Amino acid sequence: MTLADLVGQGKVAAVIDLQFGDTGKGKLTEMLSERFDVVARATGGNNAGHTIVHNGNEIVLHSVPCSIVHDSEGKVSIIGNGCVISPDDFVDEINALRNAGYSTDNLFVSTKANVIMPYHIARDRAHNASQKNKGIGSTGRGIGPCYADKVARRGVRVEDFLDRDALYARVAKAVRFYPDVYGDVGERKAREIAFDIVEKTERSREVLARYAAETIEKVHEFLRRGKKVLIEGAQGLLLDVEFGTYPYVTSSSPSVNGAASGVGLPARAIDFVLGVVKFPYQTRVGGGPMPTELGGARSREWCANPENNCERELREFGVEFERGPRGQVIYDRFHERINELKNSEDEFEQGVGIRLAGSEYGATTGRPRRVGWTDALAVRYAAMLNSPDAIVLTKTDVLAFAREFRVGYAYATPTERAIQRFDPSPRFLESARPIYKTYEGFERIDLLGNGEQELPDSLKLAVKELSDFVRTPIVAISVGKERDKVVCLRECRGK
Ligand code: GDP
Ligand code: IMO
Ligand code: MG
Repeated sequence: MTLADLVGQGKVAAVIDLQFGDTGKGKLTEMLSERFDVVARATGGNNAGHTIVHNGNEIVLHSVPCSIVHDSEGKVSIIGNGCVISPDDFVDEINALRNAGYSTDNLFVSTKANVIMPYHIARDRAHNASQKNKGIGSTGRGIGPCYADKVARRGVRVEDFLDRDALYARVAKAVRFYPDVYGDVGERKAREIAFDIVEKTERSREVLARYAAETIEKVHEFLRRGKKVLIEGAQGLLLDVEFGTYPYVTSSSPSVNGAASGVGLPARAIDFVLGVVKFPYQTRVGGGPMPTELGGARSREWCANPENNCERELREFGVEFERGPRGQVIYDRFHERINELKNSEDEFEQGVGIRLAGSEYGATTGRPRRVGWTDALAVRYAAMLNSPDAIVLTKTDVLAFAREFRVGYAYATPTERAIQRFDPSPRFLESARPIYKTYEGFERIDLLGNGEQELPDSLKLAVKELSDFVRTPIVAISVGKERDKVVCLRECRGK
């Protein structure tokens, strides 16, 4: 049985990130979408960056589900009611897809999704995007303020956005809550501002109108007709506004609960939950605690510096690179110097080596992602809240040529020598020092066939120990960007 067979057994499945995002949900969703008729995003907006490789081309999707590359085959893609949508960026994403030869005829956007307005973006950039003074380091896409307005009941839904008069009325009310952006305005000035904002939406309203639909009803109708639905998670459980490392979180609920409600389904409708875990390293972008971070505060500060990016790291750490046709940097991810960094005595440098080998730079913002060893306690906590039927490990190939790798299985805290408790509160995590199990390293595994028996013994052992600890079968290991780079493990044959 393939991974797609396993996940596609029931009617509804969800792909859920059990860490801080960027675990490779996009790749897996695209791969699994062959067994599903409908693929839906449920939460978040264009803060997400999901990268897939299709016909040899790398494509980054932000708001649109990764199934869009199968649009011409009749596969339906939905941006669900729980999402937020940025009209201009949506238009750009659609245009980029069309220019690359993809159709978007079967894409639907929920009329109930909330729309990100210019004042959401302005406030987010001014207050949340920086990581200075313990800032959150948001993606600056207006996500937080948009969800805040949704909950405060002054949001603009897609259906309001498409109705010029309704939009004008909603915006004229909302802008008075944005003195930080527009100053302390009276009713008349608020109307003028609203008028200006609405004027600028002509084009995006026209485009969005083509995709808007009552998707809640549609999803249920599809299911009644025997179609299968896959929910593409965004962000990760540890960024969940309810369960994550609050306040260092996003403003939606990227858990299985959010996945269901974000497409208009009851929680019990989800038949199969696939958890995704980067292993044996994990990443985090933006502020907030990560006890296993390689190089600790030095890494956090380095990654928070807006001047640091992939090119700067290649130069700084002496890795040769070339420039591709679009000006992008091209380098060998197993370059001798990168392997050397992975094995440095200095943990910060180890992190740099892994970041370069894994190309861990934000798909949305280009920021260096903070790198640390996989935290099994955090994964177990995330699994507790999502009840995954199975887990897929990703990016394991990145660790090739490291002499050893580690997995965090306990914390030492100021009061306890070794505990296996996870508390997402920054107060707890900031003073928690990870205690690791260490495993022998391995050579390249992305060149192996699809056979579990070929995996190095130390890796097999580490996978088994994680699976036992999290009490969830680990059914496959992803060892490359391409969809066929997945090693199915024994458990893949049955739940
Ligand atoms: P998502 O947000 O969870 O969809 O993940 P991202 O797309 O932001 O980040 C994952 C990155 O790793 C992307 O560039 C993928 O192309 C790439 N990727 C996914 N799976 C693997 C894997 O198993 N190995 C390697 N080396 N790269 C992978
Ligand atoms: P995908 O779907 C990684 C992080 C931001 C910031 C925090 C809040 O690609 O896994 P926001 O803009 O949402 O208000 O930022 O959440 N963040 C992500 N990190 N992957 C993502 O999405 C993320 N979406 C938001 O870096 O720390
Ligand atoms: Mg991502």
